[in-house]
Amino acid sequence: MIDLSTEYLGLSLQSPLVASSSPLTKDVANLKRLEDAGAAAVVLPSLFEEQITAEAEALDQVLSQGADSSPEAQSYFPDFQSYGIGPKAYLDHVCRAKKALTIPVIGSLNGVSPGVWIRYAREIEQAGADALELNVFFLATSLEVGAQEIEQRYCDLVRDLKANVRIPVAVKLAPYFTSMANMAHRLDQAGADALVLFNRFYQPDFDLEAMEVTPNLKLSNADELRLRLHWVALLSAQIRPELAITGGVHTAEDVVKGIMAGAKVVMLTSALLANGVSYVSELAGRLVEWMGEHEYDSVRQMRGALNVSSVAQPEMFARANYLKVLGSYTLEASHRR
Ligand SMILES: Cc1cc2nc3c(=O)[nH]c(=O)nc-3n(C[C@H](O)[C@H](O)[C@H](O)COP(=O)(O)O)c2cc1C
Repeated sequence: MIDLSTEYLGLSLQSPLVASSSPLTKDVANLKRLEDAGAAAVVLPSLFEEQITAEAEALDQVLSQGADSSPEAQSYFPDFQSYGIGPKAYLDHVCRAKKALTIPVIGSLNGVSPGVWIRYAREIEQAGADALELNVFFLATSLEVGAQEIEQRYCDLVRDLKANVRIPVAVKLAPYFTSMANMAHRLDQAGADALVLFNRFYQPDFDLEAMEVTPNLKLSNADELRLRLHWVALLSAQIRPELAITGGVHTAEDVVKGIMAGAKVVMLTSALLANGVSYVSELAGRLVEWMGEHEYDSVRQMRGALNVSSVAQPEMFARANYLKVLGSYTLEASHRR
């Protein structure tokens, strides 16, 4: 009997296959389908800082004008449904998800600046979330703001969040730090229980006919996994927070690679959007098959087998690899294509 079980954020999970934050986790019927297909946990779509602060501002406006005296007061509330779930509806969603599912439900807050919005974490906890993911999607575009200030902001956010909740907190990050390892270490010191590597940067495209910048969300491909494998393999041997991989997990082999790099769980969005929710059970089946063929009894046995402390050539994770990769390219190979 092959044992797929794992632990993540203090939760016992039946497998390392987690559905990451996406429109698929937005309604309870889909969440139930994910559970039935074998997802070990689900991360709900993010509640965005902007949604919380916009509602707070609208409420201030209503209160200052006397909500009861003005029937138009309701119109001050922005239409949150147009760009996601508003704060109140979000808490309802957490409650309903918890009632409908037996697998753990992870809430998600998405924001970048210090502020009262972070206190919403407590409400998500009270609504029943088993853990919380903080997605700090921050694009540094100001000429005035340096790396140190930005990194400090991440740490302050995590400290602030941890001070507000008792449930475990994972931090979802982009890879664009000068010193990723140091950043991971500082987030550890700030209290992060897990790091989710990595956010994808949705680069806009140019529409040359319309002369416009257009949003362009493409689903991931398996090549994107490599950056995650690199950092998880490097960090899993060195830091306390658990590591989750998000980005580029599409096949059972991808799952195995993630675990062997040292991840506690791997997360799925693009693979499920492309293949349907039932793909979770297909992946689990293929994972069991792969493990059987390669004589592994459990996920625990595989974990970290290819991290930096377990491989014969740890230098392959650093500059030596860069040199070797460049040196390994032959023009003959490129001509054969
Ligand atoms: C349509 C769409 C919506 C998403 N919404 C969120 C979100 O609200 N919060 C979040 O943290 N990540 C969100 N993500 C990112 C996914 O959780 C995931 O990290 C990313 O897609 C990379 O994983 P993948 O390669 O499995 O797709 C979204 C992704 C997609 C495609």
